[in-house]
Amino acid sequence: MLHQTNLTVNEAGHLAVGGVDTLALAREYGTPLYVLDEDMVRSRMRVYVQAVKAHMRAGSLPLFASKALCCKALCRMAKEEGMGLDVVSAGELYTALAAEVPAENICFHGNAKTEEDIRYAIASGVGYIAADGEEELERIDALAARSSVRQRVLLRVTPGIDPHTFAAVNTGVVDVKFGVPIPTGQALEATVRALEMEHIDLAGFHCHIGSQIFDAGPFCLTVDVMLDFLDQVRGRTGYTAELLNLGGGFAVAYEEGETAPDCGEMIRLMAERLTERCEQYDYPLPAVMLEPGRDIVGAAGVTLYTVQNVKSVPGGRHYVAVDGGMGDNPRYALYGARHTALVADRAGEIPDTSVVLAGRCCESGDLIGENVPLHSPRQGDTVAVLVTGAYNYSMASNYNRVPRPPIVALKDGKSRLIVRRETVEDVAALDL
Ligand SMILES: Cc1ncc(COP(=O)(O)O)c(C=O)c1O
Repeated sequence: MLHQTNLTVNEAGHLAVGGVDTLALAREYGTPLYVLDEDMVRSRMRVYVQAVKAHMRAGSLPLFASKALCCKALCRMAKEEGMGLDVVSAGELYTALAAEVPAENICFHGNAKTEEDIRYAIASGVGYIAADGEEELERIDALAARSSVRQRVLLRVTPGIDPHTFAAVNTGVVDVKFGVPIPTGQALEATVRALEMEHIDLAGFHCHIGSQIFDAGPFCLTVDVMLDFLDQVRGRTGYTAELLNLGGGFAVAYEEGETAPDCGEMIRLMAERLTERCEQYDYPLPAVMLEPGRDIVGAAGVTLYTVQNVKSVPGGRHYVAVDGGMGDNPRYALYGARHTALVADRAGEIPDTSVVLAGRCCESGDLIGENVPLHSPRQGDTVAVLVTGAYNYSMASNYNRVPRPPIVALKDGKSRLIVRRETVEDVAALDL
């Protein structure tokens, strides 16, 4: 996994991220510690900004899916690099606005928005609300009427594409909690209703087919299904969409043997397919939004832990327990996600044992991984878990009242805190 160019082994044999010694970071900031290579985050953002500018129509915009890692510093980076933001809650919207992301570049999502969410989004002047269905359209219409505005809306539709089998119009994949299905005809009916609503300004449609997509095929298939749908909508209502939001899902390499895709090239292929289909249907080329999350921050993140205990069960497995776990990285507990780990003190050494990397919570399922190859781990070592920038901090919890780790960002070889360490007082601060 050290094939990631920002990860190196320095002269002391320690793991370095962006040239910065991880043991020095662990000493300065303590562990567990989220380390984020800001140079890498910004360069991933530029890939999307440049590819969208080069290949998509004017008015197109990549949005950072802030659910992957939401804090003010990340929102500021997205704004500075020319991205908008995808938010899913009042909390994410508040963070984006506090970071002075222009409201018109924000799209507010969510499959179960509350009335407060919708009011807050409208009052903040967000560029778009992605409506998840007909009932929600009615609520947005009513709340926009009360504020005397016409709210720009995207209707979230489910194209019925399985990104991992390339199967299209598969009812299995429309049986999900998000969006209005195209294959069942419900999306067309919801569009007809949206166009009748006085305070809804339908800008276009949104879809998101899934995550960890390694090539352009499923995205191109999505373009096919969406253009066919747009053509049906135009046939029935005369309406043409000016905007198509094709969601996120661009993959990162978590394990040895996986190769991160060339996302700039994927975007070029998507744009090419979109132009082809627009010509075929004689449809005006819509502007495009994309919502990468994982690929912006995933590989830029490394979590550092200190080994607390090592034990071998005779006839059983070898356990290495660290000072973090499911509280800061619930991905293994949630979906068996695999990460590469290494002993940062001896980063150049070849692993000589396979361990269960266990967390500190009072829960047997609190594991960071099983069958994790490590080099002679012992108490006091620093273990680095790689590719933890996405869906780690943002999914962290205070289970067992363990405070959440801080995030330190690395830029030009220097470190700075962008989220401070939580304290036990913070954790108890809401108790009455
Ligand atoms: C609507 C929407 N957009 C974007 C994303 C980001 O996906 P990823 O982090 O895989 O790029 C998600 C992820 O769940 C999503 O639901």
